[in-house]
Amino acid sequence: MSGLYIHIPICIAKCTYCDFYSVVSRDWKTIDRFFQCLETELKRLPTSFAPETIFIGGGTPPAVSAEQLAQLIEIIHGNIDVSQVREWSCEANPGTLDRDKVGILRNGGVNRVSLGIQSFHEKALKLLGRIHTAEEAIKGFRMLRDAGFDNLNIDLIQSIPGMKTEDVLADARKVTELDPEHISYYNLIYEPGTAMTRDRDEGRIVPPSDDEEADNYFAVKAILEGAGYGHYEISNFSKPAAECRHNLLYWKNGEYFGVGPAAHSHWNGARFGNVRDLGQYCGRLLDGKKPFDEVERLDPETKAREFLVMWLRLTDGVDLEEFELLTGYSVDALCGTDIEHMVAERLLQRLEGRLRLSNDALFISNAVLSELVQP
Ligand SMILES: C[S@@+](CC[C@H](N)C(=O)[O-])C[C@H]1O[C@@H](n2cnc3c(N)ncnc32)[C@H](O)[C@@H]1O
Ligand code: SF4
Repeated sequence: MSGLYIHIPICIAKCTYCDFYSVVSRDWKTIDRFFQCLETELKRLPTSFAPETIFIGGGTPPAVSAEQLAQLIEIIHGNIDVSQVREWSCEANPGTLDRDKVGILRNGGVNRVSLGIQSFHEKALKLLGRIHTAEEAIKGFRMLRDAGFDNLNIDLIQSIPGMKTEDVLADARKVTELDPEHISYYNLIYEPGTAMTRDRDEGRIVPPSDDEEADNYFAVKAILEGAGYGHYEISNFSKPAAECRHNLLYWKNGEYFGVGPAAHSHWNGARFGNVRDLGQYCGRLLDGKKPFDEVERLDPETKAREFLVMWLRLTDGVDLEEFELLTGYSVDALCGTDIEHMVAERLLQRLEGRLRLSNDALFISNAVLSELVQP
């Protein structure tokens, strides 16, 4: 099983919290040149490559014009064998959707849209620098449904400064009313260099306390589970059989090519990442060069540790026998003592041949998992 990620680094406006690589551009000529380079990169992929998942992410893919979106779909069909594709996702910001663009995605083969709503609370949307209101976000969701999309994800963010617990819970209830197949519920991360992080560091906004965040996380989890969503990954919930196949590839050490600036690939045991700059990316491709610098080949032990930590993000945990079969390492040989300590501290659980994060550890998973990456 393999996947293709396509990074479209264009946004209408930069959100205050986001450090995904994107530029704010309406310069259609730059976008045309970018698509020309993207096509060159796609043509360089092995001819035998037939992904089972495609994910067009960003940035905001539908931030380009309807004609350009149609051109993007055409470029993919013209250069990639899509005969094996079972899930084809595209990310969208509700402020960038219209009926034309939704129709182009649907008719072009996209069968899953991930809609960044973030919150239904107007003040929070303003603080996040979003270009849409809650009402526009709901309209965008309905537009996708009306066009026939039966596999939709909504991205939400919790722990947004200024939101009371009742507002957080209202968001969780609202999203279940919309009834998407999948919900990604992220905790707000203060990324270095973002406007949001500056505002926090200079005291203009005050994040909720850790205890408040943890309480919200578990209350949201209970609401979503009560509405029939399985909590299958630290930040992800889905209706039965609607887990995101493309992201499962990342968590289960699958192979994928990433094209576009800042996109990463994992292929034949090697990892490589494209330059994080649209101008340099295009310059390199137009000069006939590779868009990435170093190819990283991890030693087998580091690779096995990385795999363990990614797989542990899934709430049903790691199948210990399968892990050993796939990596050649038993989990105990890799980090037995650390694991014993964490089991004793009730951060990890061993159950029926599996190792998984305990319920209590879900909220502090980053701290727990980072312990296991180090030898
Ligand atoms: C590429 S965006 C999704 C599509 C579109 N660009 C949009 O924003 O609507 C990926 C998602 O990552 C999440 N995200 C980005 N930065 C984040 C941060 N600092 N903390 C938490 N979630 C974040 C947001 O939920 C966002 O919807
Ligand atoms: S969250 Fe989405 S719309 Fe906002 S800057 Fe990031 S990629 Fe662009």
